[in-house]
Amino acid sequence: MAKGDLPFVHLMGSLGLFKIEMCGIVGYTGSKSALPILLSGLHSLEYRGYDSAGIALAGKEGLWLKRRAGRVSELEEAIGDDEIPSGVGIGHTRWATCGAPNEPNAHPHRDCSGRIAVVHNGIIENHVQLRRKLEEEGHKFRSDTDTETLAHLVENTMASGSDLAQSVRSAVSQLEGSYAIVVISATEPGRIIAARSDAPLILGLGDGENFVASDVVALIEHTRRVVILEDHHLADVTSDNVRIVDADGEEQPIREIAVTWDIAAAEKGGFEHFMLKEIHEQPAAVRETLRGRVDAAGHLTLDEMRMSEEEIRDIDKVFVVACGSSFHAGLVAKYALEHWTRLPVEIDVASEFRYRDPVLNSETLVVGISQSGETADTLAALRYAQHQKAKVISITNVVGSSITRDSDAVIYTHAGPEIGVAATKTLTTQMTALWLLALWVAQTRGTMFPDERRAVFEELARLPGLMEEVLSDDSKTFMVSERFKEARTWLFIGRGVGFPVAMEGALKLKEISYLHAEGFAAGEMKHGPIALLEDGVPVVAVASKSHVHAKLLSNIEEAKARGAVIVAVGNPGNDEVAKLADELLEVPHVTQLLSPALDVLPLQLLAYHVAKARGLDPDKPRNLAKSVTVE
Ligand code: F6R
Repeated sequence: MAKGDLPFVHLMGSLGLFKIEMCGIVGYTGSKSALPILLSGLHSLEYRGYDSAGIALAGKEGLWLKRRAGRVSELEEAIGDDEIPSGVGIGHTRWATCGAPNEPNAHPHRDCSGRIAVVHNGIIENHVQLRRKLEEEGHKFRSDTDTETLAHLVENTMASGSDLAQSVRSAVSQLEGSYAIVVISATEPGRIIAARSDAPLILGLGDGENFVASDVVALIEHTRRVVILEDHHLADVTSDNVRIVDADGEEQPIREIAVTWDIAAAEKGGFEHFMLKEIHEQPAAVRETLRGRVDAAGHLTLDEMRMSEEEIRDIDKVFVVACGSSFHAGLVAKYALEHWTRLPVEIDVASEFRYRDPVLNSETLVVGISQSGETADTLAALRYAQHQKAKVISITNVVGSSITRDSDAVIYTHAGPEIGVAATKTLTTQMTALWLLALWVAQTRGTMFPDERRAVFEELARLPGLMEEVLSDDSKTFMVSERFKEARTWLFIGRGVGFPVAMEGALKLKEISYLHAEGFAAGEMKHGPIALLEDGVPVVAVASKSHVHAKLLSNIEEAKARGAVIVAVGNPGNDEVAKLADELLEVPHVTQLLSPALDVLPLQLLAYHVAKARGLDPDKPRNLAKSVTVE
């Protein structure tokens, strides 16, 4: 993004629109028929999640509910020509995070009486405890979701005489985690109650009608007058009134803003491309991946892990298998896995793994990484590993994807849907999940002192804030892209964890700008690649501080002496790098093993800007598909 665009980006951030929305929410109350409005809202939100969709309408006779696994069109087909005379309802399109992507887990969820319906985005971290308590009280659950707890909590308070708004306020006060929730009840049929904490929710103001949505895109067809609901605020919405209160029930002012974007821009949160939006979503995505993983005593839990501690203790070797950017995440993690767990780690591109007769047995741990969970080679590699009796853990962004069926345990990255073909937020969340896995294995095997583990976790928790810092101004990457957009060959170099970052930087550039780009271990330059250097060739050096920093500086000097122009990714205040670099892309300093999560950001932005400067669509690179389901 050019510098001139930055105030808009900041405005978007301050409105909470950089938060990860895993699912889409829409609600309507007014004099028109709610059903077609909700269906059209769900269609526009579908790019956010498409595991299942559902609608609940409120009427005097009770709630009408229809849900389907799959896409909104399947829900629409199930509804057929039915006309339901109701002017109030809520709809949801789901990207599964808790519970398999099937119809019972589709939203809206109801209480026992079937009179209250709830839709929710986010993760309720304490849902297991809440559910246990509610079940002990006699509540009957129909789904595996965290969301359903909320319907039963609201039911409890309403049963003691409170109205819907008071009951929702009481229910959300018991929740830990992130949520945007919208609730209706057949006992108060004109009303929609909405509340949020750490997940976006917007109100749309109309004439004799009002709307609620997780995203402007669902409202823009009907109104451009919106109110951004603040964290811990609750909105009480009827067709002719909107009231907002805070967590204590204190009335809050209603600040209306006008939306000027068109629908296409709104879908992309105001960004020009999904890729750029997803690059900017990384801090929030990493925050989601880290959420709820460490308890007050600093003890790490990975709740998707279904392997026994004994099985983890018995492991004597780790293999990591993946393709493309996921392979690079694996390469990054190899350094931390070996350092923290003292286990030997081998890494393979998935397409090679099973054809080379690797030595596996029941004491081998195989970690498969695939954001889509559908990459044919990765799936085949994991099946092969299981066949050889190895333990398999997969890391994926898609709940219920094929990879989860071929694994003994799964860690979800919670990055939300990634639409751009080039992996960005799924990569940095994969790194995060892999670091968590490495810490967890180290914790189980006792290879790290608790203080040491806690210190790494604290550093991990700092990452999202530091990522925000890097992404807050990309005017420099924009300038660098303008300077080098005509260069036909680019080399990327790094050492240690900077090496896989260099490979990822080269992959991003080549896949969306169609330029020749190669990533090398800097020490390998003299063994061949240096012959490619001539005057003006850009060499991008991943040069944040490391224990091999001095060696990398020598490699940069060698390249410079042969006419290369140096673009360095380096830490502020590092004069040695600043002196050697023709262009410096600054990233804050962080402990070395975690530095790839920051160092890769300017390289993603650089690839994006070069592609754009060359008149290409970064979201849809030629010849590439988002998931590669054939070998
Ligand atoms: C690069 C990219 C691909 C994928 C690769 C693996 O930007 O997106 O290289 O990383 O196709 O895909 P998954 O992670 O879905 O297995």
